[in-house]
Amino acid sequence: MSRAPFLTAQALRKSYPAVTVLRGVSLSVAEGDSFAVIGPNGAGKTTLFKVLSGELFADAGTVTFEGRDVTAMPAWQRVRLGFGRTFQVARVFPDLTAEDNAIVAAEAARRGGVSLAWWPARSVRAAAHAALNEVALFERRSHIARLLAYGDRKRLELAMSLILRPRLLMLDEPTAGMSPPDRAASVELIAALKQRHGMTLVLTEHDMSVVFGLANRVAVLNHGEVVTVGTPEEVRANPTVREIYLGSGHA
Ligand SMILES: Nc1ncnc2c1ncn2[C@@H]1O[C@H](COP(=O)(O)OP(=O)(O)OP(=O)(O)O)[C@@H](O)[C@H]1O
Ligand SMILES: [Mg+2]
Repeated sequence: MSRAPFLTAQALRKSYPAVTVLRGVSLSVAEGDSFAVIGPNGAGKTTLFKVLSGELFADAGTVTFEGRDVTAMPAWQRVRLGFGRTFQVARVFPDLTAEDNAIVAAEAARRGGVSLAWWPARSVRAAAHAALNEVALFERRSHIARLLAYGDRKRLELAMSLILRPRLLMLDEPTAGMSPPDRAASVELIAALKQRHGMTLVLTEHDMSVVFGLANRVAVLNHGEVVTVGTPEEVRANPTVREIYLGSGHA
């Protein structure tokens, strides 16, 4: 079965003033994939996410989404096409309650969609509550975000991104900083949300149990280059990958 590419990167290059981070990265993600990008610290994973989502523009190369060239499209326009994203360090409004964070996202979703412009505020609150429910945070909706456990803050961020109904959800280390049981629960939650909303996932992770629990395709990035792409089993058996991980102390 061959599916048309949903998201592609072609020969992406990106440098910061003192360092070249992406050295010609090409990837192809199919609709429905759970595509993991793994690699040692500093390999360029977050930079690749930024370029794919439009937070940064590549110096060279192309990003396509559903066959459309989005290379020069800013992040907010990509969100309208169906891009959603969470960050390596959760980005929520720290002094607002979980509920108010979700309401901010629901308000943004309302303004983003012209046909929804006249929704009553009650619907905004209902959308916020539904999203909090989906990540099992409804009971804690009156908690101030900065006082939530870190895993809960990550789930709040996830709820906020879901409100925008993304078709492509990009998760930068969704379980970083979590305890092992919290991690396992998050893997189950993300898998269930993906299924329920029919999303395509692109994620990065250092925790291999998370990668193996979620991903059907894995790309290995090292020094800004894709070393290999394959199934989790293929990647795990790849001797070059083993060497990279042994060398980086992540084995
Ligand atoms: N804004 C920036 N300015 C300059 N250099 C940067 C900037 N952001 C990242 N870098 C450098 O670019 C390289 C790649 O960083 P990036 O954050 O993309 O890696 P990563 O694979 O996500 O790493 P980690 O696993 O630690 O999250 C690193 O050497 C980093 O120090
Ligand atoms: Mg990173």
